[in-house]
Amino acid sequence: TQRTLVLLKPDAVRRGLVGEVIGRIERKADWKITALELRTLDRATLEQHYAEHVGRPFYEPLVEFMLSGPVVVMAVEGERVIDGVRQLAGPTDPIAAAPGSIRGDFGTIVRENLIHASDSEESAVRELKLFFQEG
Ligand code: GTP
Ligand code: MG
Repeated sequence: TQRTLVLLKPDAVRRGLVGEVIGRIERKADWKITALELRTLDRATLEQHYAEHVGRPFYEPLVEFMLSGPVVVMAVEGERVIDGVRQLAGPTDPIAAAPGSIRGDFGTIVRENLIHASDSEESAVRELKLFFQEG
Protein backbone atom coordinates (compact mmCIF):
# COMPACT_ATOMS: atom_id res chain seq x y z
CA THR A 1 0.00 0.00 0.00
CA GLN A 2 1.21 3.52 -0.84
CA ARG A 3 1.11 6.99 0.69
CA THR A 4 1.06 10.29 -1.17
CA LEU A 5 1.10 14.01 -0.39
CA VAL A 6 -1.86 16.02 -1.69
CA LEU A 7 -2.14 19.82 -1.57
CA LEU A 8 -5.39 21.64 -2.32
CA LYS A 9 -3.96 24.89 -3.67
CA PRO A 10 -5.11 28.40 -2.61
CA ASP A 11 -7.55 28.64 -5.55
CA ALA A 12 -9.37 25.49 -4.41
CA VAL A 13 -9.69 26.87 -0.88
CA ARG A 14 -10.78 30.37 -2.05
CA ARG A 15 -13.35 28.94 -4.43
CA GLY A 16 -14.90 26.62 -1.85
CA LEU A 17 -13.94 23.43 -3.69
CA VAL A 18 -12.30 21.66 -0.75
CA GLY A 19 -15.33 19.49 0.03
CA GLU A 20 -15.81 18.59 -3.64
CA VAL A 21 -12.19 17.49 -4.09
CA ILE A 22 -11.89 15.69 -0.75
CA GLY A 23 -15.17 13.90 -1.54
CA ARG A 24 -13.71 12.47 -4.74
CA ILE A 25 -10.66 11.18 -2.87
CA GLU A 26 -12.71 9.80 0.01
CA ARG A 27 -15.06 7.87 -2.27
CA LYS A 28 -12.25 5.83 -3.88
CA ALA A 29 -12.27 2.27 -2.53
CA ASP A 30 -9.62 1.53 0.10
CA TRP A 31 -8.17 5.06 0.26
CA LYS A 32 -7.86 6.82 3.62
CA ILE A 33 -6.94 10.39 4.50
CA THR A 34 -4.48 9.88 7.36
CA ALA A 35 -3.52 13.53 7.98
CA LEU A 36 -5.22 16.80 7.02
CA GLU A 37 -4.54 20.42 7.87
CA LEU A 38 -5.46 23.89 6.62
CA ARG A 39 -2.12 25.71 6.58
CA THR A 40 -0.50 28.84 5.18
CA LEU A 41 2.80 27.69 3.71
CA ASP A 42 6.13 29.50 4.03
CA ARG A 43 8.56 30.33 1.24
CA ALA A 44 11.29 27.96 2.51
CA THR A 45 8.96 24.95 2.32
CA LEU A 46 7.79 25.90 -1.17
CA GLU A 47 11.35 26.45 -2.41
CA GLN A 48 12.17 22.89 -1.37
CA HIS A 49 8.90 21.51 -2.69
CA TYR A 50 9.36 23.10 -6.12
CA ALA A 51 13.20 22.86 -6.27
CA GLU A 52 12.99 21.01 -9.62
CA HIS A 53 11.41 24.11 -11.20
CA VAL A 54 13.95 26.75 -10.04
CA GLY A 55 14.90 28.99 -12.97
CA ARG A 56 11.80 28.23 -15.05
CA PRO A 57 9.75 31.31 -15.99
CA PHE A 58 6.71 30.10 -14.06
CA TYR A 59 8.66 29.35 -10.86
CA GLU A 60 8.45 32.70 -9.01
CA PRO A 61 4.76 33.35 -9.87
CA LEU A 62 4.00 29.78 -8.81
CA VAL A 63 5.63 30.28 -5.40
CA GLU A 64 3.82 33.63 -4.97
CA PHE A 65 0.52 31.97 -5.86
CA MET A 66 1.10 29.16 -3.37
CA LEU A 67 1.77 31.81 -0.69
CA SER A 68 -1.39 33.77 -1.57
CA GLY A 69 -3.67 31.97 0.88
CA PRO A 70 -4.07 28.85 2.97
CA VAL A 71 -3.82 25.40 1.39
CA VAL A 72 -5.11 22.03 2.56
CA VAL A 73 -2.21 19.66 3.23
CA MET A 74 -3.13 15.96 3.22
CA ALA A 75 -1.56 12.54 3.43
CA VAL A 76 -3.57 9.89 1.61
CA GLU A 77 -2.94 6.17 1.94
CA GLY A 78 -4.17 3.21 -0.09
CA GLU A 79 -4.08 0.97 -3.13
CA ARG A 80 -1.98 2.60 -5.93
CA VAL A 81 -2.82 6.00 -4.49
CA ILE A 82 0.17 7.83 -6.03
CA ASP A 83 -0.90 7.28 -9.65
CA GLY A 84 -4.52 7.23 -8.57
CA VAL A 85 -4.64 10.80 -7.26
CA ARG A 86 -2.68 12.02 -10.33
CA GLN A 87 -5.41 10.40 -12.48
CA LEU A 88 -8.17 12.06 -10.46
CA ALA A 89 -6.36 15.43 -10.84
CA GLY A 90 -5.73 15.20 -14.59
CA PRO A 91 -2.87 16.81 -16.56
CA THR A 92 -1.16 20.05 -15.42
CA ASP A 93 -2.99 22.23 -17.98
CA PRO A 94 -6.69 22.24 -16.99
CA ILE A 95 -7.83 22.88 -20.56
CA ALA A 96 -6.01 19.72 -21.67
CA ALA A 97 -7.51 17.80 -18.73
CA ALA A 98 -10.55 15.66 -19.52
CA PRO A 99 -13.92 16.54 -18.02
CA GLY A 100 -14.42 14.21 -15.08
CA SER A 101 -10.98 15.02 -13.68
CA ILE A 102 -10.60 17.67 -10.97
CA ARG A 103 -8.57 20.03 -13.17
CA GLY A 104 -10.78 19.26 -16.18
CA ASP A 105 -13.96 20.00 -14.30
CA PHE A 106 -12.91 23.12 -12.38
CA GLY A 107 -9.75 24.65 -13.86
CA THR A 108 -8.82 26.98 -16.71
CA ILE A 109 -5.46 28.55 -15.70
CA VAL A 110 -2.28 26.42 -15.73
CA ARG A 111 -0.90 27.96 -12.55
CA GLU A 112 -4.21 27.81 -10.70
CA ASN A 113 -4.82 24.13 -11.25
CA LEU A 114 -6.36 23.36 -7.86
CA ILE A 115 -4.36 20.36 -6.66
CA HIS A 116 -0.88 18.95 -6.23
CA ALA A 117 -0.17 15.24 -5.83
CA SER A 118 3.22 13.52 -5.55
CA ASP A 119 4.35 12.14 -8.92
CA SER A 120 6.34 9.07 -7.76
CA GLU A 121 7.15 6.92 -4.75
CA GLU A 122 10.40 8.91 -4.19
CA SER A 123 8.59 12.28 -4.45
CA ALA A 124 5.92 11.05 -2.05
CA VAL A 125 8.48 10.11 0.62
CA ARG A 126 10.36 13.40 0.17
CA GLU A 127 7.20 15.56 0.19
CA LEU A 128 5.57 13.79 3.15
CA LYS A 129 8.76 14.47 5.16
CA LEU A 130 8.78 18.09 4.03
CA PHE A 131 5.13 18.80 4.93
CA PHE A 132 4.73 16.55 7.99
CA GLN A 133 7.34 16.29 10.75
CA GLU A 134 6.62 12.58 11.10
CA GLY A 135 6.83 12.06 7.33
P1 GTP B 1 1.86 19.59 -9.23
O1 GTP B 1 1.06 18.39 -8.83
O2 GTP B 1 1.35 20.90 -8.69
O3 GTP B 1 3.34 19.39 -9.05
O4 GTP B 1 1.56 19.72 -10.77
P2 GTP B 1 2.18 18.89 -11.93
O5 GTP B 1 3.05 17.79 -11.42
O6 GTP B 1 1.03 18.56 -12.83
O7 GTP B 1 3.05 19.99 -12.63
P3 GTP B 1 4.60 20.36 -12.45
O8 GTP B 1 5.19 19.66 -11.27
O9 GTP B 1 5.24 20.21 -13.77
O10 GTP B 1 4.49 21.92 -12.16
C1 GTP B 1 4.15 22.36 -10.86
C2 GTP B 1 3.12 23.43 -10.97
O11 GTP B 1 3.68 24.55 -11.64
C3 GTP B 1 1.90 23.07 -11.83
O12 GTP B 1 0.92 22.39 -11.10
C4 GTP B 1 1.42 24.44 -12.27
O13 GTP B 1 0.67 25.05 -11.20
C5 GTP B 1 2.72 25.18 -12.46
N1 GTP B 1 3.19 25.07 -13.82
C6 GTP B 1 3.80 24.04 -14.42
N2 GTP B 1 4.10 24.29 -15.70
C7 GTP B 1 3.67 25.55 -15.92
C8 GTP B 1 3.69 26.41 -17.05
O14 GTP B 1 4.17 26.07 -18.12
N3 GTP B 1 3.14 27.64 -16.87
C9 GTP B 1 2.62 28.04 -15.69
N4 GTP B 1 2.11 29.26 -15.58
N5 GTP B 1 2.59 27.25 -14.60
C10 GTP B 1 3.11 26.04 -14.71
MG1 MG C 1 4.68 18.11 -10.00
